[in-house]
Amino acid sequence: MKPKIDLPFETLSWIGGLDGHVQMLEQTLLPLQEVQLEVRTVPAMVDAIYRLAVRGAPAIGVAAGYGMALGVQAAGPGEVLQAARTTKATLDASRPTAVNLSWATNRILRHLEALAEAGPGVTDHQLKQAVLDEAHAIYHGDQDTCRRMGEHGAALIGDGHTVLTHCNAGALATAGMGTALAPIYTAHAQGKRVAVFADETRPLLQGARITTWELMKAGVEVRLITDGMAARVMGEGKIDAVFVGSDRIARNGDVCNKIGTYGVAISAHHHEVPFHVVAPLSTVDPALESGEQIPIEERPAEEITEGFGDRTAPPGAQVYAPAFDVTPAALVTSIITEVGVIERPDTAKLEQALRAGGVSF
Ligand code: MRU
Repeated sequence: MKPKIDLPFETLSWIGGLDGHVQMLEQTLLPLQEVQLEVRTVPAMVDAIYRLAVRGAPAIGVAAGYGMALGVQAAGPGEVLQAARTTKATLDASRPTAVNLSWATNRILRHLEALAEAGPGVTDHQLKQAVLDEAHAIYHGDQDTCRRMGEHGAALIGDGHTVLTHCNAGALATAGMGTALAPIYTAHAQGKRVAVFADETRPLLQGARITTWELMKAGVEVRLITDGMAARVMGEGKIDAVFVGSDRIARNGDVCNKIGTYGVAISAHHHEVPFHVVAPLSTVDPALESGEQIPIEERPAEEITEGFGDRTAPPGAQVYAPAFDVTPAALVTSIITEVGVIERPDTAKLEQALRAGGVSF
């Protein structure tokens, strides 16, 4: 019998039919308020993605898929394809690093183009329905992918293990049970005793606000630490493995994830703690040979100097605010995908996994 994993919240979903809208948990207000945000237009979706109301690479992909459905809703006769192209360009520009966003909009646009080319008999209504159907397929596919990654990753977690995670790569970062947290939820449901140390994740505190929130809701033991404590905790021998997610993985296995992940990987390497990355194949960007080519989002200085209202730096202080960093493949013990575990990733192994997942590159 499969272990049952019930999470008492939904990250985002589509409400209604062709003229429907997106409902999402407004993540900027967590953990103090649980507010549902209704998103009915493309600009509202861009805003939600940029503000991190919805965040985490797979969830951004799912949101962008539904954004495409919103973008073609009002398209006039013969204008569906053009509306989809314009919407894709607008959504793709909302955040640059997580490749799942353009992966999802690409997938929908390619699907639509193939249908439109199939002949003049295809109606605008059918084209709009095809966009929504494909967005739903991305949503359900993500749930299934999370479940598979959870099963592969749980095999690496022993009874009584303590793992460390950075940022939030849980249910709130996907349409399913998460990437990095999926093995933890699965191991927990299998009856293994598993505990988590969660880095708070400066500056937007996805670890403190979101990871602790969802693990506590799921009944998984979690202890919050500041980012600077991770090396100390590993040095104390408290961590059996690190599990993180990713926003983009280059073909050679270099892994881009939330700022601070690289430092965690260096610490893990130094302390001989396995460093696992859990990510769907939609996070692999086969067009990039190495992590140096990954575009790194820079966020407004205010997120560091007055992130949650209170000023914590002198007015006028200069700030550098990259939101992501790149961990070289040499520091990665494994990448756990829906098609299995890639140990000590390199270009040949990544390409093999892409082929196994039916991804053309
Ligand atoms: O800026 P965010 O909150 O979107 O960053 C999220 C992360 O870095 C996650 O670790 C990554 O997207 C993987 S989520 C399954």
